[in-house]
Amino acid sequence: MSGAPRIQTPERLAEDELDRSLRPRRLEDFVGQPSLKEQLAISIEAAQARGEALDHVLLAGPPGLGKTTLAQIVAAELEVPFVQTAGPALERKADIAAFLTALQPRSVFFVDEIHRLQRALEETFYPAMEDGQLPITVGVGAGARVVTLDLPPFTLIGATTRTGLLTAPLRDRFGLQHRLEHYALDDLAMIVTRSAQILDVALEREGAIAIAGRSRGTPRVANRLLKRVRDYAEVRCAGVVSAAAADAALAMLEIDDLGLDRLDRELLRALCEKFEGEAVGLSTLAVTVGEEQDTIEDVYEPYLLQCGLLKRTPRGRMATRRAFEHIGLEPPAGAAASLF
Ligand SMILES: Nc1ncnc2c1ncn2[C@@H]1O[C@H](COP(=O)(O)OP(=O)(O)O)[C@@H](O)[C@H]1O
Ligand SMILES: [Mg+2]
Repeated sequence: MSGAPRIQTPERLAEDELDRSLRPRRLEDFVGQPSLKEQLAISIEAAQARGEALDHVLLAGPPGLGKTTLAQIVAAELEVPFVQTAGPALERKADIAAFLTALQPRSVFFVDEIHRLQRALEETFYPAMEDGQLPITVGVGAGARVVTLDLPPFTLIGATTRTGLLTAPLRDRFGLQHRLEHYALDDLAMIVTRSAQILDVALEREGAIAIAGRSRGTPRVANRLLKRVRDYAEVRCAGVVSAAAADAALAMLEIDDLGLDRLDRELLRALCEKFEGEAVGLSTLAVTVGEEQDTIEDVYEPYLLQCGLLKRTPRGRMATRRAFEHIGLEPPAGAAASLF
């Protein structure tokens, strides 16, 4: 089943393939997020002991932190089918009905980007999630009537990069709600070490740490960097990924010591230089750096916020003092008071 109708560039296809090959299959192989794993393990065991479907699960957090992976793991642990779609792919009530009525009992139904589901369709999920029922209208005009279908018990797993965009009635119907946070250095080092084994890459401990430190707290980025560093090491360093090889490769890729890439720096440069530390609206910023607003908000901003390089104010985005320092500029004298 296809995901969101996003543009499939060659890099994106390669990345999807990489994601698939490196995805942990069982909960015990999923690195980090210990409290989330424990809660899930308990809920899974309890549901299995009762022979019931697991409660609906909402997974929130920035891209690349393991939402899809976890949803697949839950299905694998429950030993039930995994059926996948995405919010934007559900265009009509009949699309949802087609999925739900075809589910085998206790299946996991994964809806990626659930915040992009049309508002009118959200309501279709309410009775389905609560009572396992799906009222549908058959016929038109005066002859139309509502027929209620009984659905097999199922577990809806919703993934979202923005919990804020979900309506409260939908959010409240998820019994289990988890937020994935950026990963610590040790966890990322463990993830690249595991990936290196799967990809058969000779990775030294210091090399793993060098990659982890520039992965923006994100497993997908860590895996992507590992792959790029491997290419470099094969050509220049006899295939061994040492700290020196990783440093040289990442410098060549223009990824700095915070893990910022060229677009991150362009964003900061626009905020610092062009807008001189003043607040800027998201749409203006997007046009200035030539990137989609959604991408800036979902992919770039969370990490810049976390690094304390950017702040959000009611008037827009602003560079912080640290941002000026990071790109090697003096904060403007007049604006200095407003930059903390
Ligand atoms: N906790 C984890 N342990 C190991 N690998 C992970 C973990 N989280 C994510 N990954 C890796 O990162 C990639 C992206 O994860 P994914 O589940 O697709 O993220 P999301 O759906 O949140 O965007 C996966 O292919 C997987 O290899
Ligand atoms: Mg995903």
